[in-house]
Amino acid sequence: MVSVSLQDDNIRVKVPKGKTLRQVAATTGASMEFGCRVGDCITCVARVKSGMIYLSEKNEKELKALEILGGNVSQLRLMCQCYVRCEEGEIVISYAV
Ligand code: FES
Repeated sequence: MVSVSLQDDNIRVKVPKGKTLRQVAATTGASMEFGCRVGDCITCVARVKSGMIYLSEKNEKELKALEILGGNVSQLRLMCQCYVRCEEGEIVISYAV
């Protein structure tokens, strides 16, 4: 299981491989907001402060959406598009981008 910390809500949970961060937010009652849930609206953008390596690669849709934000988006992810891809590790997320 991977440890996921949602810093802004002071939530820390163990998450199995394959679970999306949207699912994590939904099941923990996190305050993160979601819109389309399909990678179009950027409402769910968040900063991965550490542990990016434990998340899925950015897909085509996510890359396009993040491009709109401009600047350095290397630490940013759409929570509805990324999922835990490892069995172990630690991910720290902040909603502040
Ligand atoms: S909820 Fe719209 S991009 Fe994630």
